[in-house]
Amino acid sequence: MIIEPRMRGFICTTAHPDGCAQNVKNQIEYIKSKGKIDGSKRVLVIGASTGFGLASRITSAFGSNASTIGVFFEKPPTEGRTASPGWYNSAAFEMETEKAGLYAKSINGDAFSNEIKQQTINLIKQDLGQIDLVIYSLASPVRTHPVTGITHRSVLKPIGDTYTNKTVDFHSGKVSDISISPSEGDDIENTVIVMGGEDWKMWIDALKENNLLSDGFTTVSYSYIGSSLTEAVYRKGTIGRAKDHMEATAFEITDSIKNIHGKAYVSVNKALVTQASSAIPVIPLYISLLYKLMKEEGTHEGCIEQIQRLYSQRLFTGKQIPLDEKGRIRIDDWELTDHIQEKISKLWANATTENLSELGDLEGYRNDFYNLFGFGFKGVDYKLETNEMIHISSIN
Ligand code: NAI
Repeated sequence: MIIEPRMRGFICTTAHPDGCAQNVKNQIEYIKSKGKIDGSKRVLVIGASTGFGLASRITSAFGSNASTIGVFFEKPPTEGRTASPGWYNSAAFEMETEKAGLYAKSINGDAFSNEIKQQTINLIKQDLGQIDLVIYSLASPVRTHPVTGITHRSVLKPIGDTYTNKTVDFHSGKVSDISISPSEGDDIENTVIVMGGEDWKMWIDALKENNLLSDGFTTVSYSYIGSSLTEAVYRKGTIGRAKDHMEATAFEITDSIKNIHGKAYVSVNKALVTQASSAIPVIPLYISLLYKLMKEEGTHEGCIEQIQRLYSQRLFTGKQIPLDEKGRIRIDDWELTDHIQEKISKLWANATTENLSELGDLEGYRNDFYNLFGFGFKGVDYKLETNEMIHISSIN
């Protein structure tokens, strides 16, 4: 069928298989162009189909010739309905690894569940023996707890007071004020249960119990800090509490894998357009200003550039990994430089519907958003009929 973007609210309900494949190929080309990385060889990526997780899987496979297992939660195609983008990304990734002679298998299902953990354990036992690196890159609004069976929902709210600030509807370009009422009841606890570190630790515990972690094993989870402009809704809001929990969990995990000389790290990454971040109010305005300034300066990075830098300049240099005062890896350093943040604050104060396309990179934001769903890629003819019924070779 001919596939066009179909929007519902802030979500695109269609995805283009050829565009998603192009996106994966572009990322692979980027990694190849940067040369080999002496990284881990048996890698499990949890949240492997889009955003930072997909970039991590690509960097491991094509930068370090790693065998990868990817876990994700995506919708396969049905007759007349496209799959979700992460499905097509993963199908394309497996095709490219096959061509390159690299091992890659995927598991599609709820990573929070015992069943998916068990399936992954069985696959590792059968195919890889042990794992050297686990990248934990889940972003989910809900989690059904495997022990209690309770379904928890995360919220993106400030804590304490109502927060009012500017935001932009990136489709229409309309800048307006938004007021977000503060968290109440169990909001904080629920958000920590969904996006905090508990599930990350459960994965590592389960792998360790089954003797599937190699000596010198490493695990990395991704976090965000961001600027003072967004902190009320991000770092000092409910999601920030979950990130605090995630960061504290890294120390607990490191403690629990000392006997195999293992280490758990949190890497603080840059703000980028992904399906997860476009759902957070205020962030799209911040990102559009940030993109403009970083592109002008030549320091703009997407997920793949960020993860390439994480691997080649932080994780796998053969030297001690540089950490901040709280023990975190930082690849948000270029985003948070003083001059960038000062300029954003000034632009923020002046941003209106009329001038945002000049002050900010609204077009870049929109392009990145459409790219997430496989639209807007050079080299893809979107007028042609295409087959949406693509399968992932390692998934029955
Ligand atoms: P994303 O939405 O692009 O990717 C999320 C991944 O999680 C996908 O592979 C999806 O299939 C998988 N997933 C979601 N629920 C699942 C479930 N129940 N079971 C199995 N897989 C599931 O998200 P993004 O932005 O790449 O986020 C990944 C991590 O990076 C998050 O921890 C996020 O907070 C962090 N981060 C994101 C930043 C951003 O600006 N996007 C900035 C810094 C950190």
